[in-house]
Amino acid sequence: MSLTNAKNNIYLKKLKNILSSDLDFHNFSSNYGSHNFHSFPAKFPPQLPQKFILELTEYNDIVLDPMVGSGTTILEGLFNNRNTIGFDIDPLALMITKVKTTFYNKNKLIDSFNNIASQATSLLNNSDELLSSYYNNLDVTTKEFINYC
Ligand SMILES: C[S@@+](CC[C@H](N)C(=O)[O-])C[C@H]1O[C@@H](n2cnc3c(N)ncnc32)[C@H](O)[C@@H]1O
Repeated sequence: MSLTNAKNNIYLKKLKNILSSDLDFHNFSSNYGSHNFHSFPAKFPPQLPQKFILELTEYNDIVLDPMVGSGTTILEGLFNNRNTIGFDIDPLALMITKVKTTFYNKNKLIDSFNNIASQATSLLNNSDELLSSYYNNLDVTTKEFINYC
């Protein structure tokens, strides 16, 4: 038996073991990491791809998901120190997966939030001025409509 055949047999045995094991994850939580950032149809529990990843791949291996959906498999790959590649035909699925798998610097994120909040506060403090300049730029019909309301 060649080395490749021997390896394939090992993976086949492992796969059979996984498929005949308990794959019911109803009582497990998916509320960790960024898994629940966004809803998506037909999401499966993260424990499912996690089991396949842990038992069929090694540290630093590549996990390829050609139909990423909302990225559950890709996320589990990252959480378990695998390199990941994902594709999808749906741009929304790709965007959700990108957001869920992007690592942010927490301090930078807090700085950005504070910056946005202080700009919003200063806009609110000048809201009378802003509203009147906005109102002055409206056309006559829109002004009539607003005044009617
Ligand atoms: C149920 S989701 C897959 C879940 C995903 N494997 C995960 O880990 O969360 C199915 C995805 O397959 C995608 N899809 C369907 N046909 C496709 C195709 N021909 N090429 C790429 N993606 C496709 C859909 O857009 C959808 O996002």
